Amino acid sequence: MVRASFPAGFVWGVATSSYQIEGAASEDGRGESVWDTFTRVPGKIADGSNGDAACEHYHRYRDDVALMKRLGMKAYRFSIAWPRVLPAGRGAVEPRGLDFYSRLVDALLEAGIEPYATLYHWDLPQPLQNEGGWGVRTTAEAFLEYAEVVTRRLGDRVKRWITHNEPWCVSILGYQRGLHAPGVEDFPTALAASHHLLLSHGWAVPVVRANVPGAQVGIALNLNPGTPASPSEADRDACRRFDGFFNRWYLDPLYGRGYPEDVVADYAADGHLPPSGLPVIQGGDLSAIAVPCDFLGINYYMRTVVRSDRVSETENAPRTVHLAPRSEWTEMGWEVWPDGLSDILQRVHRDYAPGPLFVTENGASYSTGPDATGSVPDVARIAYLKGHLAAASRALQLGVPLAGYFVWSLLDNFEWERGYTQRFGITWVDYATQARTAKDSALWYAGVIAENGFELG
Ligand code: FCB
Repeated sequence: MVRASFPAGFVWGVATSSYQIEGAASEDGRGESVWDTFTRVPGKIADGSNGDAACEHYHRYRDDVALMKRLGMKAYRFSIAWPRVLPAGRGAVEPRGLDFYSRLVDALLEAGIEPYATLYHWDLPQPLQNEGGWGVRTTAEAFLEYAEVVTRRLGDRVKRWITHNEPWCVSILGYQRGLHAPGVEDFPTALAASHHLLLSHGWAVPVVRANVPGAQVGIALNLNPGTPASPSEADRDACRRFDGFFNRWYLDPLYGRGYPEDVVADYAADGHLPPSGLPVIQGGDLSAIAVPCDFLGINYYMRTVVRSDRVSETENAPRTVHLAPRSEWTEMGWEVWPDGLSDILQRVHRDYAPGPLFVTENGASYSTGPDATGSVPDVARIAYLKGHLAAASRALQLGVPLAGYFVWSLLDNFEWERGYTQRFGITWVDYATQARTAKDSALWYAGVIAENGFELG
């Protein structure tokens, strides 16, 4: 047997986000978010549900922190709901919203769990969307105000900050494909949104540093390694294009290269951009976006096998197919491909040298529930986590400075457009009673944390 082992001090954690777990949607002065609005649109959410109650974490956070403590968690990545703090998006601060996060942080520190706070995990205040949301620059300005308020209040205790979660999902799913809030379907708006998201990250980093003594700040990107479906030139070019669309569009500007020229040329040739590039870029924006950070977070779920035919003119990404003969899928329909994690970690380290890396999300949707004895034998999730942690340890052995790993997610929760039909938790949530049951994967993960590794076999 060989062991997957991790360095001393490796950060073992678990991740969640505000809208997906908090509930208490109209309590303590919380304003409306784009997800409140979007979930009311008929047909947008698979089971017609919303985050009004979710896991009631807003009221049950002490129990959830106690559960994490029992599992031996070293760190907890959560997000702050902008509409709880600034209900109108800017201007008046709601102290009860800030108080909630302050209590949560105190509970975590008391339990010996390090807080990793994400400023933006998709719940944009609706009043800002009414002005154009991430499609307009004033939203990036409002984000700066929000970052200032939050880090002033929590910065004495929270040292690890993530500005944005997955700007690709926000811009593309939210503004190009209309699958996520705010449900816009316009590619040029999505590209403007991507720029304003990155710009607001760049602007926020110095604010976090000014308000947080000893701050470590970064961003979390969902990265998706592409593989050409065949060695043909057409498939390889489609793969280049997919990689540009998904990965390099975010990585390149963050690491000082500006937007990738080949991708700008593709978009211009398709009529989505003027040949000069993104019209919304102003002087100084690219250097603001390239502000040095202390770490990069990578959310990894899957790779994509890319074939050259285009789905449609507006899709703007090549057709993607899963060709691997023995592939497995989770219940999201996402391929299980652990090697993609070591590949993407190595590549980002080699091509961008961002310094310390964290896997800020990785996990799987399986609906396995409690058996007759009350335990939850989610063996498929254990296999998924084992495979991906083994891949992470291979990347470490190859010299990648991986500093930590966060499982998505602590709890089964509201999975965006899939509602409650998908369960990513290592903890089972009975939504009728809100009872939590640690699944077998949680118990397995607790063992990994305790031993800083596990036997491969
Ligand atoms: C990621 C999101 C997270 C969760 C997982 C399954 O893209 O960041 O909120 O929905 O996918």
